[in-house]
Amino acid sequence: MSTDRTAPTPPATDLTVVVLAAGGGTRMKSKTAKVLHPLAGRSMLGHVLAAVRELEPRRVVTVVGHQREQVAPHVEEQLPEARIAVQETQDGTGHAVRIAWDVLDDADRQGTVLVAYGDTPLLEGASLRALVADHVGAGRAVSILSGIVGDPHGYGRVVRDEAGEVTGIVEQKDATEEQRAVREINSGILAFDAAFLAAALPRLSSQNAAGEYYLTDTVALAREDGLPVGAMPLDDVLQTEGANDRVQLAELGREKNRRILARWMREGVTVMDPATTWVDADVVLARDVTLLPGVQLLGATVVEEDAVIGPDCTLEDVEVGAGARVVRTHGQLAVIGAGASVGPFSYLRPGTRLGAGGKVGAFVEVKNSSIGDGAKVPHLSYVGDADIGEGTNIGAGTIVANYDGVAKHRTTIGRHARTASNNTFVAPVTVGDGAATGAGSTIREDVPPGALAVSAGPQRTIAGWVLKRRDGTAQAQAARDAGATEE
Ligand code: UD1
Ligand code: CA
Repeated sequence: MSTDRTAPTPPATDLTVVVLAAGGGTRMKSKTAKVLHPLAGRSMLGHVLAAVRELEPRRVVTVVGHQREQVAPHVEEQLPEARIAVQETQDGTGHAVRIAWDVLDDADRQGTVLVAYGDTPLLEGASLRALVADHVGAGRAVSILSGIVGDPHGYGRVVRDEAGEVTGIVEQKDATEEQRAVREINSGILAFDAAFLAAALPRLSSQNAAGEYYLTDTVALAREDGLPVGAMPLDDVLQTEGANDRVQLAELGREKNRRILARWMREGVTVMDPATTWVDADVVLARDVTLLPGVQLLGATVVEEDAVIGPDCTLEDVEVGAGARVVRTHGQLAVIGAGASVGPFSYLRPGTRLGAGGKVGAFVEVKNSSIGDGAKVPHLSYVGDADIGEGTNIGAGTIVANYDGVAKHRTTIGRHARTASNNTFVAPVTVGDGAATGAGSTIREDVPPGALAVSAGPQRTIAGWVLKRRDGTAQAQAARDAGATEE
């Protein structure tokens, strides 16, 4: 099957989506609910809800059960318009949909009802849309999103008659030897005619090997009623694969990342080493961005045209301007201006705003500070709670002492100032436009525009001190060799 990603979607006013997420996740061995485990910057459930949202259904219901105190608030955060249905005991997928049915309004019990699972993070909206289109187009009571797999063990098998028509789904536990050989499996994603589903749900029984109400039994019920059913195989079977343990989570995470990178490369981004580059689902990259090896772009990071990131950067919720250069940097909630230069070995903490053409250099940490256009903090410095004007140069080894042990204060340094090496600015303090400071100064008082502030005392030089006090050392010998005398 091929799906057109670019096709416009009209809102599906006739579509209700049920997402099943009540099951436990024992094999995760985690205090975190299975569907909340993250990959590519979203929970597994978050990826499914994002795919569902693309369809613009009139109603979404998420069925929660196990660890619902974690899952329900997460759904509310990811998709506030979704309804939550609580399934107290996990008596099967059919039971779960019945619980969902109870929280629907009559207006939602019309048209098409799509059922998906909350643990399939590679699922794409386009595939759901294709199933719904196929289902509605064929006028079926039930449509199965199926897949042809190498190893069907554990899945429900799609059973067909001699004519190739779908007759039902049989679960692994209930399948005959012959049925177990079938390689067409039920992905779990099913589309229903709402009127049929309403009639079928009360008819489901738990008389099967698992003692559960199987949603999949609806297929045979439709056939009994002489209603059309069918299956649409999805070539890309990974889209409906779930992660049951952390090994599978890592595998799906790598695959998700591979797909995200492939998409950006096709959009004009250079990724030198996809194996060591990780880009979250919500990151946005412009054309001609270059990502060098060892780069992680996380959260809502945005990178503009011609910027070069890496090697070895982690940027989370960072905006990088056009043509900026960021090397071996850890950044979070920061803004890097166009043409700016950051790194190597820089740490941009939340609230950092570096202006266009500005520089934050080696071993520099910046927090909650703005550094103006063309301003530079090139070496070995800490800048916290400061505003530095455009074109200003901060000397090597500068510390902005923003914390007095009780409270934090701001420091303001004006435009085109030149502060010298090894300065300490004791906040709150203001240095005016075009001002200067002397090396090693501790600036505790405001410096007016254009002034030079020097806080160190005059230098005292005591001739011959080493010869007297360090006699017999290599130091004293070196001094004598250089012509030093005791007086
Ligand atoms: C189900 C299908 C099977 C399909 C397979 C695909 C049924 C009877 N079987 O089997 O045909 O090949 O998925 O992975 O539908 N859930 C609830 N409440 C419940 C039971 C399940 O919310 O009472 C949720 C689970 O959290 C999970 C999904 O439904 O997200 C599927 O449940 P699971 O137990 O994994 O079903 P399978 O036995 O794998
Ligand atoms: Ca399963």
